[in-house]
Amino acid sequence: MPDASNVGAVLLAAQTRLKSAGVDTPRLDAILLLAEAATLSEDLIRSRPEMPLTHDAVVAFEAMLQRRLRREPVSKIIGRREFWSLEFRTSSDVLDPRGDSETLVAGVLAAIPDRRVSLRIVDFGTGSGCLLLSLLHELPNATGVGIDVSPPALSVAQDNAERLGLSSRCLFRLGSWGKGIEGTFDILISNPPYIESGVVPGLEPEVADYDPLLALDGGADGLDAYRALLPDLVRLATKDAFAALEVGMGQDVAVSHLLAGAGFGEIAVLPDLSGIGRVVTGRKSVQIP
Ligand SMILES: C[S@@+](CC[C@H](N)C(=O)[O-])C[C@H]1O[C@@H](n2cnc3c(N)ncnc32)[C@H](O)[C@@H]1O
Repeated sequence: MPDASNVGAVLLAAQTRLKSAGVDTPRLDAILLLAEAATLSEDLIRSRPEMPLTHDAVVAFEAMLQRRLRREPVSKIIGRREFWSLEFRTSSDVLDPRGDSETLVAGVLAAIPDRRVSLRIVDFGTGSGCLLLSLLHELPNATGVGIDVSPPALSVAQDNAERLGLSSRCLFRLGSWGKGIEGTFDILISNPPYIESGVVPGLEPEVADYDPLLALDGGADGLDAYRALLPDLVRLATKDAFAALEVGMGQDVAVSHLLAGAGFGEIAVLPDLSGIGRVVTGRKSVQIP
């Protein structure tokens, strides 16, 4: 443990150790963890290197640093992550909300001309609830169901719904995709596990060791979950429902075909901020009798 007990010295020592451990953003991570450990603002940590730290803060910081040195993500250490400008609780039981997934939220909102309409949304594989809850936050008259096969993930989602004041408009259900779910939904979304099984062990440790395997592994070609959930998606869709599915890099064409084959039209691929096709959307084709 470093002897120095001012912000600048503690940060410098931590930064060197994080860099040696292969962490990509050592300074930023050290600042975020020190702010959390010392219950100080990030601004103070950045601007007051001479500020002394209490013994308790240094001890708490070292415990957090040890976790980050084992490549646990900062968000899992501090237990929260921002998504869609909202704060979500995260844990080892859920996929950390990813910035790329905001593409799905934006894509759904762009397809809704009037945000005040009452809509029913279903989220297959809800995890932390970040997609469903962000949409409910933007759509004041919408209600939603979040489904997951992981009971601890559903507890995190329920907790997030309560913290965000949205629990009266959503339900979380334990199950595999849409099994046992009845009724119809106007908006159907999913960010299912889509990494090819053979690729998972080689992912960076922050993902492979700390996101649940259930949230990552999409089978041999990464597309198992899409094939499994599509029949439920079709069964639960209203006649002009809108569907939005997040996909992995290079999966947009295959998933577009799957969605079109299931009877959805107006298929579109939405790029994320890096220009990668990240979300496939479609509208249930109206059947003319
Ligand atoms: C990639 S994570 C997405 C979590 C969250 N929707 C998000 O975007 O951050 C996929 C989620 O699907 C869930 N899942 C995996 N298999 C499932 C199944 N058969 N039925 C329902 N959910 C499943 C996992 O537990 C995990 O929470």
